[in-house]
Amino acid sequence: MQNSERVAWRIDEVLPRNAVIDFSRRILPDALTGTGGIRCLTEAEQLKLNHIRTNSYAHLFLFLEEYVVALMSQRAGLELHSNPTQMRALIRFTEEEIKHQQLFARYNNLFAEGFKLAPALLDNHVQVARAILTKSQLAILIFNLHMELMTQQHYVETIRDNGDEQLDPLFCSILKHHWLEETQHARLDYLEAQKVLSQAPDAAAALEQAMTEYTELLAAVRGTLIAQLELDIQTLEKSLGRTFTEAERKEIFDAQERSYVWTFIGMGMKAPLFLSRVRSLSPVAEQRILDLAPTYYA
Ligand SMILES: [Fe+2]
Ligand SMILES: [Fe+2]
Repeated sequence: MQNSERVAWRIDEVLPRNAVIDFSRRILPDALTGTGGIRCLTEAEQLKLNHIRTNSYAHLFLFLEEYVVALMSQRAGLELHSNPTQMRALIRFTEEEIKHQQLFARYNNLFAEGFKLAPALLDNHVQVARAILTKSQLAILIFNLHMELMTQQHYVETIRDNGDEQLDPLFCSILKHHWLEETQHARLDYLEAQKVLSQAPDAAAALEQAMTEYTELLAAVRGTLIAQLELDIQTLEKSLGRTFTEAERKEIFDAQERSYVWTFIGMGMKAPLFLSRVRSLSPVAEQRILDLAPTYYA
């Protein structure tokens, strides 16, 4: 708790209302957007797609954090009259996720102003959050651990020490601040998952069910990513004033599908801290993830 108070920040400090996005350079690295190798696009067009992907990335966090807010406020409620320290930590977690949603929403607005066109974005986040919340608490906590550690992996592996790309410092700073708080969240996800498991009448069966549901949640995320990808291509065509041929569209779609799946699914499943946390819950669960991994990335 003390540590989470120390790293906490305000939205205005990280993204002032008068902040300016530098559209002359990449915003997210190519490792997370996969636009650099698309041959049917010129360099300037690849850059446009990098920007569209960045805006979608911010939106997808806003989107995915919707279920986290619901989950963590439920978990906090369970601590009422029992553990005030844990309850405070979970309420703080909930509050921070709402703050992250507001931060990313502000970024999307700022982006639309600077980009001169409002990109098409998915709007069914409440529906998706409700669908996620039909799963068991253990499954959602493991899925959330994946998401939190994936976020950290993005920052640490591709942004923090990236000396090869001159990225827009504004978004790098946003992701740095997001990462600082997500580090605290991942600890809490793990503690909550341990608690649920220790209270289960049959831990092995609960874990087996949770891993099946985790797989279903990944499939649902994939569907969401593809739906956003379709919108990204529409936005790209609109902003370039160009209609892609079937072959061009396929090249862009395939490259972007690979990139989306790797960024949001592969990088989470492969994050060393995610695997080690799941291993300490159960080596059988970690093995399920390792067996599943080739479905999502080679
Ligand atoms: Fe967050
Ligand atoms: Fe988080």
